[in-house]
Amino acid sequence: MELEPLITAGQIRAKVSEFAKILDDLYEGEDLLLVGVLKGSFHFLSDLARAMEKQDCEVDFIQVSSYGNEKSSSGVVQIRKDLDTNIEGRNVLIVEDIVDTGVTLAHLRELLGTRRPKSLRVVSLLSKLEARKVATAVEYIGFEIPNHFVVGYGLDYGERYRNLPYIAILP
Ligand code: IMP
Ligand code: MG
Repeated sequence: MELEPLITAGQIRAKVSEFAKILDDLYEGEDLLLVGVLKGSFHFLSDLARAMEKQDCEVDFIQVSSYGNEKSSSGVVQIRKDLDTNIEGRNVLIVEDIVDTGVTLAHLRELLGTRRPKSLRVVSLLSKLEARKVATAVEYIGFEIPNHFVVGYGLDYGERYRNLPYIAILP
């Protein structure tokens, strides 16, 4: 299958540094827990965490699945791996690869919100606003993209292409 490059590795790097500066300022002198949403966010979280000058971040992961076919979600969200960390009173930053229908993120925000964190924010590398079915707040969005299925930099199609260093449209 022919991939159509959409966002280059250089553009991603620039966005990651931009976010790192914003987050360094925002959480200066504060405690911070980065919560990566598996598996798609693994490169983004890793690059972002290393770009930040803040040296005492903690990292945890959560994995959810929304049953459906490979290209669209069913709207039913299940926790497959929960956090290891108690987030009560903590500053939590959810790190996502993409907000598509918004179903996953709305669910995560609600779930983690009930655990009474001190603050709860979201940074997502990508967003497909046109595909949104559930309104959900996303404090930081890297790139708004058109409503196409994309792969690379953590995003997969049937578990493939996660290793691409850039984002491409899967025709
Ligand atoms: P949502 O619940 O529809 O917002 O999307 C949830 C998840 O579906 C995202 O975190 C991704 O893991 C996956 N997803 C949505 N759109 C794409 C895409 O274009 N390519 C690969 N994965 C996607
Ligand atoms: Mg995801």
